[in-house]
Amino acid sequence: MSEPIDLAALPHDFLWGTATAAYQIEGAVAEDGRKPSIWDTFSHTPGKVAGGDTGDVACDHYHRWRGDIGLMRELGVNAYRMSVAWPRVMPDGDGPVNPKGLAFYDEVVDALLEAGITPSVTLYHWDLPQALQDRGGWPERETAEHFAVYASAVAERLGDRVKLWATLNEPLCSAWIGHLEGSMAPGFTDLTAAVRASYHLLLGHGLATSAIRAAAPDAEVGIVTNLSTIFAASDKPEDIEAARRQDGHVNRWWLDPIHGRGFPADMVETYGVELPVKPGDLETIATPLDWLGLNYYMPDHVEDDPEGRAPRTRSVRRPDVPRTGMDWEIDASGIETLLLRVTEEYGARKIYVTENGSAFPDTVRPDGSVDDPERQAYLIDHLAACASAAAKGAPLAGYFAWSLLDNFEWAYGYEKRFGLVRVDYDTQVRTIKGSGHRYADIVRAHGSLRSRAA
Ligand code: IFM
Repeated sequence: MSEPIDLAALPHDFLWGTATAAYQIEGAVAEDGRKPSIWDTFSHTPGKVAGGDTGDVACDHYHRWRGDIGLMRELGVNAYRMSVAWPRVMPDGDGPVNPKGLAFYDEVVDALLEAGITPSVTLYHWDLPQALQDRGGWPERETAEHFAVYASAVAERLGDRVKLWATLNEPLCSAWIGHLEGSMAPGFTDLTAAVRASYHLLLGHGLATSAIRAAAPDAEVGIVTNLSTIFAASDKPEDIEAARRQDGHVNRWWLDPIHGRGFPADMVETYGVELPVKPGDLETIATPLDWLGLNYYMPDHVEDDPEGRAPRTRSVRRPDVPRTGMDWEIDASGIETLLLRVTEEYGARKIYVTENGSAFPDTVRPDGSVDDPERQAYLIDHLAACASAAAKGAPLAGYFAWSLLDNFEWAYGYEKRFGLVRVDYDTQVRTIKGSGHRYADIVRAHGSLRSRAA
């Protein structure tokens, strides 16, 4: 049974948004000067993505963005989190800016503002220009430096209109899934490369934060972290220890250094890889944030895995608990726990839930409408948990539902659908799902609460 949402606990200027990412929706991978990213390479490598899917066409948003902004208007949202594709703006990673690439985002931003929708721009959602990967990618320091130059170019162009900036999306995925587990681009399974990548991603974040502020003094800059609630699968001491390591791997490795605590010593020991620290780096990584982005999808229950790769933990699939179509356990209380944790333990002063959502196989009715009661329930339960965290003091300033559209779900291809709006990939026809209509109702209800209070 779905919980009601305490909308009165959310601030009057709350941002109600949806989120997307460039490679997942844009398509047009070889148009107007864009060059390949690591995801073009990875998705075109046989066996890497389910069904051999690629982002070549995706939702064709590059050509259909006006209609997609129209959909946002129909949903009544007042914010949109999008990412800019580095390989579109600076196709060689460090070379000259591609004017057509920047012009695309310029037009999108103008149209969003005209529609009364606040744009929030993420500069890196995993699409590293392949040219930089060929020179070593994130395990190399120069990638962090190039990232700051690219960030500055985008902020110079859009910073007069875009106030909300995120440097990185989910650096955990780039580092751990891309370089340690290998199921995301660039597809490595190398602990040293992964730890070095994690370090340079955070260094790039710090360098880019200052570069954005220099180019756009009104910018509010944050980073998007994907956090999880971690539980020991049993009360055995070794599983409790494993949960501590998993929390270090998933949460503390990212939160500690950006909040000025340095990299957690227990995890440095667990990885056993020397960090490529240069004087001043830790201060750069800890450049104060204007806000913290929190992505939440699921909890994680782990046990000790002494023979496994670092951090020597194994996720345990619990029987008889509700799950999404990704086979991810559903636990809405996790988002409240994490919002309160970053508030109380890390002193976050402003938080956006930058992603939250669920994939389910949707039912299309004979009349073409899309019924998705499970996604609706997930949405309502998680929003209720967000509102509860806000009522308890978490400085929550906005919520961005993942995702506006069904899209390219990375290694899962197009089979997994997270959208509030269904995309028919044969025709590119969009249909607002039941969950999208429900989200619109919630946004409207919060609006009328605001106007009654005014
Ligand atoms: O689709 C992804 C998104 O790109 C990053 N966060 C998680 C989503 C769902 O897996």
